[in-house]
Amino acid sequence: MKDVQKLLKEIREYGEKNDVPISKEDTLNFLLTTIKENKYKQVLEIGTAIGYATIAFAFLDCVKQVESVEKDENRFNLARENIEKSGLKSKITIYNMDAKIFLQNNEKTYDFIYLDGPKGQYINYLPYLLKMLNKNGILVADNLFFHGMVTGEIPVTKGCKSMIKGLKNYIQEITTNPNLETKILNIGDGLGITKLLSQKEKIKKKK
Ligand SMILES: C[S@@+](CC[C@H](N)C(=O)[O-])C[C@H]1O[C@@H](n2cnc3c(N)ncnc32)[C@H](O)[C@@H]1O
Repeated sequence: MKDVQKLLKEIREYGEKNDVPISKEDTLNFLLTTIKENKYKQVLEIGTAIGYATIAFAFLDCVKQVESVEKDENRFNLARENIEKSGLKSKITIYNMDAKIFLQNNEKTYDFIYLDGPKGQYINYLPYLLKMLNKNGILVADNLFFHGMVTGEIPVTKGCKSMIKGLKNYIQEITTNPNLETKILNIGDGLGITKLLSQKEKIKKKK
């Protein structure tokens, strides 16, 4: 087994050199701390890329199983190689498919879901993801600010219009749905932390 911290550093460097988008360091540190504090066991990640966050999640002792979905075949193959090197293969399952197909067919549930795939699709994935969330589990969505385009700090470029619209719809839904409680944190590129409210919590929220 390769030293996992060393491997993660190598994957980060590879990602930076080869334009593979991977989670920012402060984002990953926040995610790892949250998983550890809550002793989350079952993790789902949408958007594996080359396995950076996937391996970091699986390296935590409290985590029993990580599942992750990646559409791009080259990235999927690199992720598989990295997972092999990590020695954490027994805790990780990766799927080379469109996340929508996975979500439409998966019946398992999770304590921690990291939504880091196609940004414009978050709103369409949300109903499936909420059904897959265990009681007391959380859904964390990355890139909610999308480099300032969602917040209006920088103009929305032509090619990003429909993605930004999708992200805004997602934010609107997670912050106004009475069944949910959401915090949006200024970490990395903007993180949305969403949990399902119990009946008791819903009544309290209404008051
Ligand atoms: C930001 S990267 C994921 C980074 C990874 N979570 C990490 O921190 O190391 C987003 C990934 O989602 C993948 N992706 C895009 N559309 C997808 C889809 N429809 N289904 C599954 N994966 C998709 C992209 O190929 C890309 O590798």
